[in-house]
Amino acid sequence: MTTDVLIIGGGVIGLCIARELAYDHSVTVVERGRCGMAASNAAAGMLGAQAEAYGDDAFFRLCVESREMFPGLASSLLDETQIDVGLDRTGTLLLNFTEADIAARSERFAWQKAAGFAIEQLPAEAVRREEPFISTDVLGGFYLPDDGQVDNRKLVEALRASCEMRSVKIIEGTAVDRLAVDSGKVTGAFARDTRFSAGTVVLAAGAWGTSVQAGFELPFLIKPMRGQILMFRTAKRLFKHVIVGPRGYIVPRADGRVLSGATMDDAGFDDSITNEATAHLIESTAEISPSLGSLKPQEAWTGFRPYAPDRLPVLGRVPNAEGLILALGHFRNGILLSPVTAKLAAAELRGTGSMPTGFSPSRFYPAAA
Ligand code: FAD
Ligand code: GLY
Repeated sequence: MTTDVLIIGGGVIGLCIARELAYDHSVTVVERGRCGMAASNAAAGMLGAQAEAYGDDAFFRLCVESREMFPGLASSLLDETQIDVGLDRTGTLLLNFTEADIAARSERFAWQKAAGFAIEQLPAEAVRREEPFISTDVLGGFYLPDDGQVDNRKLVEALRASCEMRSVKIIEGTAVDRLAVDSGKVTGAFARDTRFSAGTVVLAAGAWGTSVQAGFELPFLIKPMRGQILMFRTAKRLFKHVIVGPRGYIVPRADGRVLSGATMDDAGFDDSITNEATAHLIESTAEISPSLGSLKPQEAWTGFRPYAPDRLPVLGRVPNAEGLILALGHFRNGILLSPVTAKLAAAELRGTGSMPTGFSPSRFYPAAA
């Protein structure tokens, strides 16, 4: 079959790009399993541009830009699909429980404040007034009014529905084995004996991104970084905000589910739920809220964050392969970064803009050193 754009991988990144490009291109998404069931299903859905930032750099600015795109994305998805993606911008609390936590976080407060981002220091009493189920050991923290959360599973469901309404062809249960390359130009891909021909191929296969045979050298590997999450359930919603403690976070959904996350380890594609991770998550939850931590977790799951060697996304064209755009390596922030990635990939493909150079695959090529 022939299409303008072939997207390999139907996670949040592939679907968001497909939806954007469907305005003016024929788009096909090829997904090995079911769309959205890999990392995009496992995530906590935090829109933690500020909560997860460590410096005022290009990555932080990209995260902020994407966070600001969520209200528009959520309302357009609601209009189109009637699916509410649970965008919640009641803000995030970043809490301290030890003097060392305070020391580690005060620097972040200083640079975010200096750079003009909304961040408010809260004494312990104010935290407890705001969130009565927080531990009495809390020493205080910061309120980040502009960070929040989205229900990532609903987001993927809505993106998929919107793609279908925009005539994106979605082919599930089909693994791409290799790219089709003719005289240095990527012209499609193969799944066993089936050839998909395309003007442009977008590789958005998450943690498996560099497992697809390219037929040429890619000088970097995307690795899976395993993350485990526990889900607790309370009869009604007990927490208003996403709460980031020093050793873990909790994300309260509107229906009383509370996600407690997340561990991180380099275990290849081993999707085991380990006793060690479960014990750590129960402990980090109890540190934030002893009453929540004393409940029995209702569910546990694992996902693989797509991790590039320098922890940054890999976005844009590959120097030695015309016709190929990479949208990989979103690591801990792929839900947050999905709208801006789609915007940038679409501009690159349409020739109306180019990806920020700091995230370009070129950075891994010797000439860039
Ligand atoms: P995926 O969702 O993994 O999608 C890739 C898709 O490609 C998969 O569906 C896969 O089946 C398909 N595929 C792979 N190989 C092939 C092939 N050969 N042919 C066809 N299809 C293929 N991010 C946030 O912003 N906020 C959070 O709070 C957050 N929490 C997280 C918590 C955990 C525990 C984890 C694991 C991740 C979290 N993340 C979070 C990160 C986020 O989930 C990822 O960055 C994001 O989902 C990556 O999206 P993706 O589409 O690139 O990958
Ligand atoms: N961003 C949350 C996580 O990766 O666990």
